[in-house]
Amino acid sequence: METQVVIIGGGPSGLLLGQLLHRAGVETLILERRSREHVLSRIRAGVLERGTVALLDEVGVGARCREEGIRHAGTLIGWGDESFRLSFREATGHAVTVYGQTEVTRDLYEARDAAGAPVLHGVDDVVIEGADTDAPSVSFRHEARPRRVRCAFVAGCDGFHGVSRRTIPEGRRTEHEKVYPFGWLGILSETPPVHDELIYSGSEKGFALCSMRSTGLSRYYVQCGAEEDPAAWSDDAFWDALRRRLPPEHAEALVTGPSVEKSVAPLRSFVCEPMRWGRLFLVGDAAHIVPPTGAKGLNLAASDVHYLSRALIDHFGGDDGAIDAYSNRALARVWKAVRFSWWFTSLLHRYPDQSAFDRRMQRAEFAFLKESASARAAMAENYVGLPL
Ligand code: FAD
Ligand code: DHB
Repeated sequence: METQVVIIGGGPSGLLLGQLLHRAGVETLILERRSREHVLSRIRAGVLERGTVALLDEVGVGARCREEGIRHAGTLIGWGDESFRLSFREATGHAVTVYGQTEVTRDLYEARDAAGAPVLHGVDDVVIEGADTDAPSVSFRHEARPRRVRCAFVAGCDGFHGVSRRTIPEGRRTEHEKVYPFGWLGILSETPPVHDELIYSGSEKGFALCSMRSTGLSRYYVQCGAEEDPAAWSDDAFWDALRRRLPPEHAEALVTGPSVEKSVAPLRSFVCEPMRWGRLFLVGDAAHIVPPTGAKGLNLAASDVHYLSRALIDHFGGDDGAIDAYSNRALARVWKAVRFSWWFTSLLHRYPDQSAFDRRMQRAEFAFLKESASARAAMAENYVGLPL
């Protein structure tokens, strides 16, 4: 078996890369470990930068996102009893779109089906061979049979726990990591959102985020221990924790109901450098993780895909310049998003070893953001997405 690009991982990075390459006439095979149902049921990111929406448009799947996605031109930021609205539009002229990762993935799978391009689900034992040679291949098991595919390039879009990053010899990669001493407990509930924009709130009890998927579906998060079992949290305990962490007028307005999903995500910052080894490229969560506070994970995956798709298309057109520039180009944007996500996380979370001084610093940072137009502009510029 042979193809031009083997894409490992059928999450948002792999699917978007597959569509961009397919439309440029580059043949791809996507290998995904899980079933399609499993991939589509993972509730994760919810905020798309305009560059991400533009990429969805570019591959012809942007219509539903433009129709059903909710444009947000600002967000509420709270600290204890205080809150203020930060206008993205005032500072940058731009907005973001609230549209779930599940929907992005669904739209991309439908487009891949319509294009007749292959995705193999349930693949096991994926091994990347010869990535540092001119003739790489990928072997795996599918439907109990061993298979091997020769290709020109391998795109490692297989998330943080995938095989791609680990294929790069330890001496050829450097990993930078910061693990935060907390996680997020998230729930989905069929209740109207507490506010028409997102609320990011710091409090004595810890962080909370109010987001949404539609007028009847809310997505809420509270800071929790990194290893907590979501099943140990009753819905009442969740609502109680959320209420205590919101500015008072929003705590009062909160409409509660049964949760339809509940999960815990640990928080970390992680970057692997470089994002290339020979003919293997790392893309999205396979190369980097940010804490979700800045809503950057999925958007960074999309910007990697933007750079890599153009580089591969140029290569098949006879120009290798962008291939050689891919890792540096992607990392330059990644590190800025890592910084922003770290900064926003540090502003609003409660750290177990925090001193009274540390808390005062957070408070002063909040006050400065509230009062300074230039601080708000810097925040807005990062939140809506730095240029590609
Ligand atoms: P993934 O979505 O991880 O996709 C990788 C795919 O590769 C998966 O489908 C996986 O099954 C497959 N795979 C893995 N190993 C193999 C293998 N060996 N062979 C074949 N296939 C393999 N971002 C936000 O902006 N906001 C959020 O609230 C948010 N919440 C998150 C919660 C969790 C629990 C996690 C893990 C991430 C969250 N993120 C969030 C980050 C965001 O979801 C990711 O940045 C985004 O999914 C990255 O897409 P990806 O395609 O690179 O990786
Ligand atoms: C959502 C998740 C985030 O991490 C974030 O910063 C904003 C929104 C969400 O799931 O809707």
